[in-house]
Amino acid sequence: VITHERMILGCGLMITSGVTSGDVVYTALPLYHSAGILIGVNGSIMQGATLVLRTKFSASQFWDDCRKYNVTVIQYIGEVLRYLCNVPKKNNDRDHRVRIALGNGLRGDVWREFIKRFGDVRIFEFYAATEGNIGFMNYTGKVGALGRVNYFHKKIVHYELIKYDVEKDEPIRDENGYCIRVPKGEPGLLICRISQFAPFTGYAGAKIQTEKKKIEDVFRKGDLYFNSGDLLVTDQDNFIYFHDRVGDTFRWKGENVATTEVADILGLLDFIQEVNVYGVPVPGHEGRIGMASIRLKENCEFNGEQAYRHIAEYLPSYARPRFVRIQDTIAITGTFKHRKVQLVQEGFNPTVIPDAMYFLDDKAKMYLPMTQEIYNLITNNSLKL
Ligand SMILES: *[C@@H]1O[C@H](CO)[C@@H](O)[C@H](O)[C@H]1NC(C)=O
Ligand SMILES: *[C@@H]1O[C@H](CO)[C@@H](O)[C@H](O)[C@H]1NC(C)=O
Ligand SMILES: *[C@@H]1O[C@H](CO)[C@@H](O)[C@H](O)[C@H]1NC(C)=O
Ligand SMILES: *[C@@H]1O[C@H](CO)[C@@H](O)[C@H](O)[C@H]1NC(C)=O
Repeated sequence: VITHERMILGCGLMITSGVTSGDVVYTALPLYHSAGILIGVNGSIMQGATLVLRTKFSASQFWDDCRKYNVTVIQYIGEVLRYLCNVPKKNNDRDHRVRIALGNGLRGDVWREFIKRFGDVRIFEFYAATEGNIGFMNYTGKVGALGRVNYFHKKIVHYELIKYDVEKDEPIRDENGYCIRVPKGEPGLLICRISQFAPFTGYAGAKIQTEKKKIEDVFRKGDLYFNSGDLLVTDQDNFIYFHDRVGDTFRWKGENVATTEVADILGLLDFIQEVNVYGVPVPGHEGRIGMASIRLKENCEFNGEQAYRHIAEYLPSYARPRFVRIQDTIAITGTFKHRKVQLVQEGFNPTVIPDAMYFLDDKAKMYLPMTQEIYNLITNNSLKL
């Protein structure tokens, strides 16, 4: 349910980031997504800016469009800027007038690379959900952070990060049945008290969906919060960072694995174009083991030795993807998020999966081609994972 108030709040992002009537805004986001319609279309109308709409995002056409229409403001969500960074470098990469990029879901590594390559674009990264009652913006200029805990903001909008059990998919409660705030440095579920200043208008239609987003009796009997479904973390200086979507984190060996974090690390390998990380169940084991679907850069091969060295350096053993699957394309949703459900269902059985697969062998200290033999050893529990 998008109230007029919410619509104006969405447009407000354009004002905060300094978009004026002299700007030309470029939107290739789907217009059924609130970023496209509320911020892009209505925000441009509100500011009197010129709006350039493209029916479908194209990484190869993006900058040509920006040059053709003298674009000064671009909108992004999710992986859009990563796709732009993945396009082979060109001499005219900095030949454009884009001064502002406005969006959400940008990862720290892409953020740096984007600025390095395409020049001094001011990136306004914000955090918000269409239906959420809480939002942040990186008004501080700290790379990677999406905002900072602000005393006045917190006086009005009562949000908290609480301990979350990703296995049971619910907040952890103490002996009295109340939720527990996480200490700094530890990821927690973002919740925000539903109030006059932070209303939750819910979903049109099915009431049950609306109820599912509410969480009650959080710190005292009868209080009511909005459950964002996002895990965030604050650092010692109170900067706020995105950690993972609740459904995207899985558990292995009693540890939480944030798929976005693992994907970021793998993405640094020079032969990798794109990565989608997820957890797959293994018979006879609790939790899920890490698996990565990878698209290789053109004319590149998967180097199992280099990949192993890299992840062993950056990731604790429980977070290392045990299986790697090579795919020609990585399926995405209409809003550029990676599709995972089908990949999880397909698992790691080489007779079912036509793609090349690799297995992380701890003894060999490298990724080896996955075989039916390895699969059998795992499923009959003769190979310890
Ligand atoms: C866009 O703004 C107009 C004018 O305020 C408003 O009537 C309309 O409902 C808005 N559209 C959406 C999708 O919010
Ligand atoms: C872009 O700017 C140039 C130079 O100012 C101008 O000649 C051209 O007409 C502009 N293009 C559009 C589509 O506005
Ligand atoms: C957000 O951080 C980036 C990177 O430092 C910076 O370029 C941008 O200006 C920041 N945004 C705001 C609103 O300060
Ligand atoms: C497990 O599978 C492997 C490979 O097929 C086989 O050699 C081994 O005997 C099996 N072990 C058990 C306990 O079934």
